[in-house]
Amino acid sequence: MRIHHNWHPDNLPVQDYSMDRAVIDWMQEYMEPCLDIVEFGSGTGTPRLTSAGHKVVSIEHDPKWLQEESILVPVENGWYSHDHLQIILQKNCDLIIVDGTPTKGSRDLIFEWYKLPEVESWFQKAVVIIDDTDSDNNGKPVLEKFVALGWKIIFNDNPRWTVIQWG
Ligand SMILES: C[S@@+](CC[C@H](N)C(=O)[O-])C[C@H]1O[C@@H](n2cnc3c(N)ncnc32)[C@H](O)[C@@H]1O
Repeated sequence: MRIHHNWHPDNLPVQDYSMDRAVIDWMQEYMEPCLDIVEFGSGTGTPRLTSAGHKVVSIEHDPKWLQEESILVPVENGWYSHDHLQIILQKNCDLIIVDGTPTKGSRDLIFEWYKLPEVESWFQKAVVIIDDTDSDNNGKPVLEKFVALGWKIIFNDNPRWTVIQWG
C-alpha cells in the first residue's frame, strides 16, 4: 500500500455525511497517487482527498457546504446545472465521485446529463466511485443504471460504496 506522509485518519474530523475513510484507503492501495478528481457533493470529506495528495474539484450547490475545492453550481431539475458543468468536461479527470445531489431520490438524474455524448466519453475515461450504494434513494439506483449501461463493478466489498469502470 502507498503511504501519503501528509495524511493520517486520526488527524481528520469525522462527520456523519462524509464518505467512509475506507474509500481513501482503497484509493491509496489501488489507484495512482496525485489523481485528478471530480466530486459531486462537497463536505468535510472533500479536504481529506486533498490531504491524501489528490487534486480535487468538487461540485456543490449549497453555500453552507462549500470547501476550498468546491465550485458552486445550482441544482436545476434535480441535478447540477448542465451549463455550469460544461467547464469540468475540459479538465483531465482520473476519478469521479458521485456523492450528490443530497435531494432524496434525485441522484439518478445524473443520467439526464450523462446521456450527452461528450459527458459519456468524459465519464468513460475515469474510474467512478458511487457513494451510498446501500441506499434505494441515493446511490443504489445510480449503480444499477451504470451497470445496465455496461459499466463493470471493480470493487464492492463495502455495500456503502461501489467502484465501477467502463469496459
Ligand atoms: C452526502 S454529502 C457528502 C459530501 C462529501 N463527498 C464528503 O464526503 O464529505 C453530499 C451533500 O450533502 C450536503 N452535506 C455535506 N456535508 C454535510 C453534512 N456534514 N451534513 C449535512 N449535509 C451535508 C452537501 O450539500 C453535499 O452536497
